[in-house]
Amino acid sequence: MAKLKVGVLISGRGSNMAALIEAARAPGYPAEIACVLSNVASAPGLELAQAAAVPTAAISHKSFADRESFDRALSAELDKHGIELVAEAGFMRIHSPWFAERWKGRLLNIHPSLLPAFPGLRVQQQAIDAGVRISGCTVHFVTAELDAGPIIAQAAVPVLPDDTAEMLAERILRQEHRLYPQVVRWFAEDRVHLDRGRVLVTGAPTLLFSSQP
Ligand code: GRF
Repeated sequence: MAKLKVGVLISGRGSNMAALIEAARAPGYPAEIACVLSNVASAPGLELAQAAAVPTAAISHKSFADRESFDRALSAELDKHGIELVAEAGFMRIHSPWFAERWKGRLLNIHPSLLPAFPGLRVQQQAIDAGVRISGCTVHFVTAELDAGPIIAQAAVPVLPDDTAEMLAERILRQEHRLYPQVVRWFAEDRVHLDRGRVLVTGAPTLLFSSQP
């Protein structure tokens, strides 16, 4: 069967992108990472993708008059590669309603908290400051509202008393690298369905727990 063509959007380091590329190398994996696009030309993740022979392009949002024009250029590049699913991985731009509608139901993001708790930025520090004992990461559909789209799956990690934001971020990141490739696999296997604003995933547990702190 043809593999689902996935486009990954990044702005920086690209460790989730690398985890997706790595997972997609496995022979039975039902998706291929067909392009990696960045709004930042110097994003380290672009080099990682190139080293893995994945086509890349940098499209700076600064070259466009408004959000939608940038999004239309991004979308045209995704179309050029025949992309069927878009996975945002540390992509630091909010989309226009046009883009959210254009890719509705085919646009994913990974966020380093258990949404709907702690949307936005510096979320590990937010979790520590709030005193929560559990945090984690969420893969969700992207809508025009920031970090608020339907949740597909989550992975939970403990928040330890002496954690710094960096320590917690690292613990969560290890789970991100497990969770995102799984969700992309489910999507490619047509097991992810929206039902009245909630996501149903058939035949797979959508909550993971980290096995070590
Ligand atoms: C991750 O923590 C992701 O959840 C968030 O941004 C970070 C990106 O890291 N959206 P990387 O670029 O994938 O290493």
